[in-house]
Amino acid sequence: MLGGSAEDVSIKEAGLRYEVDGEIATITLDRPEKRNAQTFATWSALARIGDNLPEQVRIVVVQGEGPSFSAGIDLRMFTPEGVPGQGSFSSVAQLDNVSFEQRIEQAQQGFLWLRRPEIVSIAAVHGHAIGAGFQLALACDLRIVADDVKFCMKEPALGLVPDLTGTKPLVDLVGTAKAIDICLTARFVDAEEAFRIGLAERVVSGAELTQAVRDKAAELLSTNRDAATATKRLLQGARGRTLEEQTAAERAEQAARIKALFAVS
Ligand code: ACO
Repeated sequence: MLGGSAEDVSIKEAGLRYEVDGEIATITLDRPEKRNAQTFATWSALARIGDNLPEQVRIVVVQGEGPSFSAGIDLRMFTPEGVPGQGSFSSVAQLDNVSFEQRIEQAQQGFLWLRRPEIVSIAAVHGHAIGAGFQLALACDLRIVADDVKFCMKEPALGLVPDLTGTKPLVDLVGTAKAIDICLTARFVDAEEAFRIGLAERVVSGAELTQAVRDKAAELLSTNRDAATATKRLLQGARGRTLEEQTAAERAEQAARIKALFAVS
């Protein structure tokens, strides 16, 4: 998905709140009156948060204010007027293919950093998580959801494909057949199904969501930071490697760990 020019608007103007408390950063989609609809400015601000994340941060929580996690892309993009300062689909449709793909790549930067090995990202998802909202939840390492959650990959119903980095994690989590079912029907996935198919790690009531995320963050912070980073790197690479390659990667990471912990200088 894409917008017009990459405006360097403030995080607040981009519809976000951002707080860092020690090792935990919290990003809140904060346009509840528009169900946290996302614009190109939202993705640009997300990318800037990722670029400037303080080194001490180990956990990034992504959550939504109001009744929905996010209703996806701002539907004004589909109108001739578009989003003020950011264009519309009809304006960006005039771009040549290279410029067009560069725009999408810029938008994807807002999502990709959430998978960095140095952090664990947790999406706290309640209410609707539609289109770009679903993909933002998929960009995170873990999803803890409220029992009212409704995921929907709406893009194919609107003539589009999901392009905000969501297709790979969706397939990795639920398999190709289930991903085809979810995307090509654009149907809603509720909390029970999300848990059953592996989209959500845990389902709690809406009132318990914040505490459940805090508890998970505390558990994740209880392990050694460098070991956690190296282990996430190993796990992320596992699907793309043969057993032989993976065991070699384990040896290399462990050698670095043991040296860091026990080498006498
Ligand atoms: N873009 C812009 N504004 C939106 C969006 C959106 N995606 N979603 C909701 N809003 C606005 C509504 O226009 C309304 O504004 P208004 O009060 O000024 O009229 C306000 O948010 C509240 O919306 P309601 O529809 O009244 O809220 P409700 O809680 O009943 O429904 C729901 C929520 C289900 C999320 C509904 O708003 C909806 O279906 N939104 C559109 C979802 C969509 O198709 N997103 C695009 C997906 S594709 C992609 O992301 C790439």
